Order: sequence, then C-alpha cells, then structure tokens
Amino acid sequence: MSLQDKTVLIGITGGIAAYKICELIRKFQKAGAKTRVVCTPNALNFVTKLTLQNLSKNQVFVDEFNPKDWKPEHISFADEADIMVIAPATANTISKIANGIADNLLTSIACAFSKQIIIAPAMNCNMWQNIAVQENISKLKSRGVEFLEPETGFLACGYSGKGRLCSIDKIFNAAVESLNFSQKLAGKNVVITSGGTIEEIDPVRYISNYSSGKMGFALANSAKKMGANVTLITTKPIEAPFKTVKVKSAIQMQNALDEEFETADIIIMAAAVADYRVKNYSEQKLKKTSEDEITLQLVKNPDILKELCQKRGDRKKIIAGFCAESENLVENAKEKIAKKGCDFLVANDISRKDIGFSSDDNEVTILDKNGGIKKLEKASKSVIATKILEHIANE
Ligand code: CTP
Repeated sequence: MSLQDKTVLIGITGGIAAYKICELIRKFQKAGAKTRVVCTPNALNFVTKLTLQNLSKNQVFVDEFNPKDWKPEHISFADEADIMVIAPATANTISKIANGIADNLLTSIACAFSKQIIIAPAMNCNMWQNIAVQENISKLKSRGVEFLEPETGFLACGYSGKGRLCSIDKIFNAAVESLNFSQKLAGKNVVITSGGTIEEIDPVRYISNYSSGKMGFALANSAKKMGANVTLITTKPIEAPFKTVKVKSAIQMQNALDEEFETADIIIMAAAVADYRVKNYSEQKLKKTSEDEITLQLVKNPDILKELCQKRGDRKKIIAGFCAESENLVENAKEKIAKKGCDFLVANDISRKDIGFSSDDNEVTILDKNGGIKKLEKASKSVIATKILEHIANE
C-alpha cells in the first residue's frame, strides 16, 4: 500500500513499548510516507532521539520552545500531517488530551489537530481498568479518536493482564485504512438508524430485541470518515462525533426519519424495528392477577422502510435496508427487497453465532434492486460498514 504524499505524525509517550515504535516508523517509511516524530520527555527514557531521527529521516521534537521557523511547531506540525498516531499512549497522555490539557509539544499538537488521531494505549492492567482512564477514552472516542485496544498478556511491570501495546501491524494497518478512506460521500446527507426499537408495555416493561446497534454505529462512523454529514437515529445511548437522535419506539423512529427525509441523500435502515407494538400502553405498572395466563394485545407498526420508499417517489435518494434471516438468506432477501421497494438490502445470517447481533464482526450479502448480489466476507463491522457504503456510493 503506497503512502506516497502522506505525512504521518507519530507521537511517542513514556512507556516501555516505545522501543517497538522504531519498527512502526520503518513501516511507514517503507510505504513511502513522510514521517515526523514527536516525543514526550519521558519517551526518551525508553528510546533514543538519535534512533528515532535516523529511522524517521527527520529531526525529532520534544519541547515547544525551540522553534525552527516563525510558526509555532504545534501548529505547523498539526497542519502538515495527514494523520496523528500516538503509540504507545500512557494513561497520563490520554487523560490530558481528553481534557484539553496542552502542557508539552505532543499534547499541544493533539489539541490543535483537526484530522484523524489514532491512539494505541499501553499501560499496567490496573491503570487500564481505572474508571477515570476509561471515561477519558470514551470521551475521546465520542469525538472521533480511534483507539486500538491493548492486548492481554505478560506486562513489563510484572503483571499479567490487559495493557500490552497491540501489534505494530495493527497500528500500521489502521493508519493505512484511515489514510485511504475515500471521500465518496463528501457533502452528502446520510441518515442511518440503529438498535432494536423499544415498545413499552407499562412504565417498567417493554418488548425489544437483541440488536446491539453496533452495525448502525459502524456505518455512521465510516460515513463520517467518507465526508458525509451524518445523522444517526438510534435507540442506544451513545456519544458520537456526528448528530444523533435518541428514540425508543418504531413510531418515534419514523417521526425522527420524517424530520430528516427531505434533506437526506442516503437513508440506511440498520435498525431492528419491531413489527408490532402494544395496543394499550398502561400508564400504571400492571399488577399480577390471579390468572395463570394473560393476553397482551399487539398492533402492527408501520413498515417504515416501505413507507419511505413510497414517499420518495421519483426523487433522487438512495434507500437501503437490512434484513436478519435465520434460513434461506438470499431467497428471503430477494423477496424482501421487492416487497419494500428499496435500492439495496443488506442480508445478515443470524443462525451464525460468530457474526451479527452483539458480535464485533459481520458477514453480509448485499442485494440490489436490479438483481445484483455481492457477498462481503467476514470482517470487523467497521470494515464491513465501509464496504457497504462504498458499494452504495457507486450507485
Ligand atoms: N423495517 C421497517 N419497519 C418495520 C420493520 C422493518 O422499516 N416495521 C425495516 C428494517 O429496519 C430493515 C428492513 O425493514 O431495514 C427489514 O427488516 P425485517 O425485520 O427483516 O423485515 P420485516 O418486513 O419485518 O420481515 P420479517 O417478517 O422477516 O420480520
């Protein structure tokens, strides 16, 4: 994969895994990228400036008050780089960045950096589990920072647990993937639904399903990276670097979609919408009766996807649905795409335990309205999401 014309800014903080970053710099160099290394003062306790300078073919910077140019380095470095990769990232540096603290060159650049930041943490397993650290990580994730989870194993501090820097290949591949993101959805308004709808019975009980919302979230994330203006209508509580609308029921989801419909260029219904809702919602908690059986009456929910397709008429909007099938995947999906009238239908095989619902992976088959079928082999939901969007964007 060529990274010609790309500049990668590598931030190294003070952890024993700092020595492994020498290999990462070489990989970026071999791929043709220009590399710029910035260290925290503590990083240089683990790896020498001379080594990093030779490998990156560039001067290595540590402090902020040694300008080589009129422009402060934390601004010029942030401007010139296409991506910032911080590895290993200590609990201290992660927490500072999450809270906008800019007390050294590395954290100042991170504060000024407006493009993709990838962070690969490495630390003691108890530090990794610390609630403050985890909250700071969530904060950064919700602002679009990509985290590469540490691995579990033997740690340099003598402990065994989660905290070891992930592999150099993983860091390199994540950066390459991010740098090669196409901007095919630049300026498009993309609306995505996710999660299982919640149909309330009374103030304490509801009917729902196992949908985790992960696929819809992955789609929203990838669409954002591809330049889209994203709105995620979801039943799951999330913080995200794009607009989110929190809903519960199918009716609420339909109302939220109606609000976005006119301006939407692409609508993807990844949500698992309940086909039925409770007929008579009880304002008061239902009490146990003396009967051994009770009957809950349900009424049909609107078929949101079908109604959206009807409503669009001949307007130029792409509408895609998802379907979860436990048998005859392609046959059922073919029938469904015709019935709903959408342009694409992404079919999931829910009989497989290793993919779908709560899993981080998926394997799907994309059907289009003209009879085309494309299978996407098993991969992480974020990879599958990007491939689905690329397929749709080629329409
Ligand atoms: N969908 C919808 N409104 C509904 C039900 C489903 O918009 N009331 C959407 C889903 O978001 C999904 C697609 O339709 O994108 C297919 O969902 P699925 O549950 O597989 O379809 P159903 O028509 O409900 O068929 P089934 O009988 O298999 O449940």
